[in-house]
Amino acid sequence: MNTDERFMARALRLAARGLGETNPNPVVGCVVVREGRVVGEGHHARAGGPHAEVVALARAGARARGSTLYVTLEPCTHQGRTPPCVPLILSAGVRRVVAALPDPDPRVDGRGLSLLRRAGLRVRTGVLGVEALLLNERFVVSTRAVRPFVLLKAGITLDGRLATARGESRWITSPAQRRQARRLRRLHDAVLVGIGTVLADDPLLLPVPGVRRPFLRVVLDSHLRLPPQSRLARSARRFPLLVLCREADAGRRRRLQARGVAVLCQPGARSGVSLPWALAALWRRGIRSLMVEGGSEVLGAFLAARLVDAVALFRAPLLLGGRHSRPAFGGPDPKGLRQALRLSPQSPLLRGRRADPALPGPWPEPRLFELWYPRPERARD
Ligand SMILES: NC(=O)c1ccc[n+]([C@@H]2O[C@H](COP(=O)([O-])OP(=O)(O)OC[C@H]3O[C@@H](n4cnc5c(N)ncnc54)[C@H](OP(=O)(O)O)[C@@H]3O)[C@@H](O)[C@H]2O)c1
Repeated sequence: MNTDERFMARALRLAARGLGETNPNPVVGCVVVREGRVVGEGHHARAGGPHAEVVALARAGARARGSTLYVTLEPCTHQGRTPPCVPLILSAGVRRVVAALPDPDPRVDGRGLSLLRRAGLRVRTGVLGVEALLLNERFVVSTRAVRPFVLLKAGITLDGRLATARGESRWITSPAQRRQARRLRRLHDAVLVGIGTVLADDPLLLPVPGVRRPFLRVVLDSHLRLPPQSRLARSARRFPLLVLCREADAGRRRRLQARGVAVLCQPGARSGVSLPWALAALWRRGIRSLMVEGGSEVLGAFLAARLVDAVALFRAPLLLGGRHSRPAFGGPDPKGLRQALRLSPQSPLLRGRRADPALPGPWPEPRLFELWYPRPERARD
C-alpha cells in the first residue's frame, strides 16, 4: 500500500463504524494528515449528525492548514440537515483532498470535487475506490435505482425448504444464525414480510442490538387480515409498523390504527400488493434499504419481479423432503430454466475487480450465511 492508500484504508475503517447507524445516509470516514502525521479524524455517526469531514477538521483545528484530507466519499456541496462540507474544507486551509469515490447523489455528483479544484486545491479520486463503493453498496445501489436496495433473506434446509407443508419453520436455523440475521436487519431501514408469515409465526421483526434511528417493519397484506392482537400490532407504538393493503375493512383499520399501526391502501380491488408500488411507497417514506424475510410467496414474488439486489441464504444442515414442504422461493412457476436468476458471490458494483478482503465490507463477518448477487444480464452465458 502506498501512503495515500494507507491513510484511505484508515478512513475506510473509520467509516465502517457507522454501518447500521447512518441510514439513510452513506457511511463516511475522514482523516486529516499534515507532514505525514494524522492531526484529526472522524466518521459520520448518524443521519442529521456532523459529517466525517466536520468531525475530523474540528479535531485538527489550526493544524489542518496545509494538510491533506482523506475522505471516503466526495465532500458535499448542498445544504442538507447540516451545512455543506466544501466551504469548510476551503476555510480550514486544506491543501490537498484525496477522495475514494465521487458521491452518486445527484445533488453532489462531482460538483464537490470540481469546486475544490477550482479553488486551487489538488484533488485525487479513486484511491481504494472499489473498497469504498462496496462499503456503501446499499446506498449506491438505491441511489442509482431510485428504489430501496432489496436483500432477500431466507433460513433454509439443505434441500431448499423454508417450512413444512403445515407451515412449521421454528427453528430451521441455529441460534447463532438467527442472531446474525437480526444483525443484518440492523443494517437496513426496514424489514418486510407477507401476511402468511405473520399468521403462521406471529413475529416481532426487531433488529438486535436496538437501532437508535428509525426502523420500519412492513407487512404485505391485501385484505388487512393482520390481527390487532398480533405481536407486530401490539408493539407498533414503540416500533413503527406499516401495513400495505389493497382493501381494508373500516373497523379493522380503525382498531389497528388505534394501536399505532400505519395502513396504506393501494387503489384497485385486486389481490396482491404490487411490489413496484410498495417499493415506491417505501422510498417516499425515506426507506433506502429493505430486507425481505419471506415467506415463500413473498420471496418468490420478489424473485419473479427481479426486484432483488442481494440474497442472504442461512442454510442449516437439515434435509426435510416432502412434496409439499414450502420452497424458499414460491411464487409463479418459471416457464423454463432460462428464467432462473443467475447469481455470483461478487457484487456487480465491482465489475470484476477485487476489493481488498482486509478492508471492511458492507456485511458482518464472520458470516453464518451465504451472500449472493444477481449477475448482470450482459455477463450471462
Ligand atoms: N425459514 C424462514 O426463513 C422463514 C421466513 C419467513 C417465513 N417462513 C415460513 O413461511 C411460511 C409463510 O409463507 P407463505 O408463503 O405462506 O406466506 P408469505 O409469503 O409470508 O405471505 C404471502 C401472502 O402475502 C400476501 N401478499 C400481498 N402482496 C403480495 C405479493 N405481491 N406477493 C406475494 N404475496 C403477497 C398474500 O396474501 P393476501 O392476498 O391476503 O394479501 C400472500 O398470500 C410460514 O410457514 C413461515 O413460518 C419461514
